[in-house]
Amino acid sequence: MFHAAIIGCGGIAQVHAAVLTSLPDTEITACADIRPERAKAMAEKTGCRAYSSLDELLEHETPDSVHLCVPHYLHAPMALKAAEKGIAVFSEKPPVISRDQWELLEKAAAKVPLGICFQNRYNPNVRAAETIIREGTYGKLLGARAFVTWKRESPYYLDSGWRGTWKTEGGGVLVNQSVHTLDLLVRLLGKPEKVEAHMANHHLNGVIEVEDTVEAYLVLGGKPALFYATTAYTEDAPVLIELHFEKAALRLENDALEIRTKEGAEKKTFPVPETLGKGYWGSGHGVCIADFYASIREGRPYQNDLASVRDTADAMLRMYEEGRKTL
Ligand SMILES: NC(=O)c1ccc[n+]([C@@H]2O[C@H](COP(=O)([O-])OP(=O)(O)OC[C@H]3O[C@@H](n4cnc5c(N)ncnc54)[C@H](O)[C@@H]3O)[C@@H](O)[C@H]2O)c1
Repeated sequence: MFHAAIIGCGGIAQVHAAVLTSLPDTEITACADIRPERAKAMAEKTGCRAYSSLDELLEHETPDSVHLCVPHYLHAPMALKAAEKGIAVFSEKPPVISRDQWELLEKAAAKVPLGICFQNRYNPNVRAAETIIREGTYGKLLGARAFVTWKRESPYYLDSGWRGTWKTEGGGVLVNQSVHTLDLLVRLLGKPEKVEAHMANHHLNGVIEVEDTVEAYLVLGGKPALFYATTAYTEDAPVLIELHFEKAALRLENDALEIRTKEGAEKKTFPVPETLGKGYWGSGHGVCIADFYASIREGRPYQNDLASVRDTADAMLRMYEEGRKTL
């Protein structure tokens, strides 16, 4: 049995708690949040002990793993703190918000199993696209485009206590809402070779200091990838990733995969697990977390280990290095 602790008991922590409760070999023994009412609610819901900080929790508890569901700036330092005690780390995305933080995570990953929650990598339509690329079903992959057009308004930032600032969120729509999509592009196409990006704050000037919109031209594994993400839209529209092959275009939208060839279009849907949180978080958390524990139990590498997110973190940090100049 793995004894797990959840750090940060806000929105996404509820999904981690539901998954950990459902798995046969994990048990939540402790949780922590600087907002005592949130830790208390989590403790009551899961039957674990509540603390007001990671430090306080570690004074009294020796969990096998911690789930970091805290604001972005805390992921890397908390990961290292837990790793120094020999505790495995499962961290929410993004892995880091700066290059200095990457060094902290490397130190942590050298000591303990460390996984990052890019749950969409487990989506069946993404898996199917990977197979098509590997097998060359439609010829060579030539390029890709991706769109994330969501809606976030002032209260989302103002009520959180951490979103909307460089210091604590580390950016806006790129580091938060659309980093999953960037991660999939990098995974499907390859290493970032060229990164050009522009950023803007179209609709929340005076509310947030970070970008609400980013557009980028990337060269990934030798192929161009066009990327556009914004939180200035009027709804959370489905994310679109389109892969352009010599003989087809593949569109990944929600859980479907549409294959467009000269002969016509075919839409494939796949059975997916129940969505535990908000619809736009997807349904991959369960399998992503279950695989983390299975990898530890079986002594094999974890698909979402630190090495596997290096290129995504690099692409994201380069987009900020470029994009912040235009903000
Ligand atoms: N993978 C996904 O699909 C997904 C979805 C949503 C959020 N996330 C990520 O999860 C993380 C949390 O996001 P959220 O939406 O749950 O935010 P949230 O604000 O709802 O929850 C964060 C919690 O952390 C607590 N906290 C802040 N500082 C703390 C500290 N020093 N020690 C302990 N607790 C502290 C806050 O009080 C809050 O309760 C972020 O990294 C976010 O990007 C991932």
